[in-house]
Amino acid sequence: MSATDSFRLGVLVSGRGSNLEAILNKSREGYFARLQVACVVSNRPSVRALDIAAEHGVPGFTVLPRDYPRLDSYESEVERVFNDHGVNLIALAGYMKIVGPHLLKRYMERIVNIHPALLPSFPGLHGQRQAVEYGVKLSGCTVHFIDAGVDTGPIIAQRAVPVFDYDTEDSLSDRILVQEHQLYSESLKRITEEKWEIHGRIVRFL
Ligand code: GRF
Repeated sequence: MSATDSFRLGVLVSGRGSNLEAILNKSREGYFARLQVACVVSNRPSVRALDIAAEHGVPGFTVLPRDYPRLDSYESEVERVFNDHGVNLIALAGYMKIVGPHLLKRYMERIVNIHPALLPSFPGLHGQRQAVEYGVKLSGCTVHFIDAGVDTGPIIAQRAVPVFDYDTEDSLSDRILVQEHQLYSESLKRITEEKWEIHGRIVRFL
């Protein structure tokens, strides 16, 4: 990755959009030197994330998987929207769908995700609930590139938060979310402004 590239970010969402909002707020403040949010695509209709995109003047689109016969054809349409907006980096922000081979191949090492646990612990759904139920004393969030597995790709950054004895899924989620909102933008800034390489599972900043 060359530090002179400029990046147009496509954001995939499914719901609330608080991570999208944090990224857009940072963008508005001029935090990113080489990154612009180009468009937002939701796989669910009428979600708050699309309102947030509109509030920031970013084009938002809904592409419903049920309108397409196969995952590939759904993802081809998502790709078409991204192509129309010059997207060369993708952020998953509460995107509640597995990314299939079509997008993975097209955007190899160019799709990042945030997960609300310290991977490889507690992948998949409800990372915060899994952490509370397991009784760990430390959890957090992970920003990583995606690969064909569920939350298994090379790790870009992690941040830890304490888990207290009286925590519930909601209280831990709130504590982690504060860190998510910082870590996602910090990670996007690093991968768009610094040089890095991926060696096996290791993301190495040069
Ligand atoms: C976040 O907790 C994120 O880590 C997970 O889904 C949630 C999305 O929240 N992948 P939001 O839509 O960004 O508010």
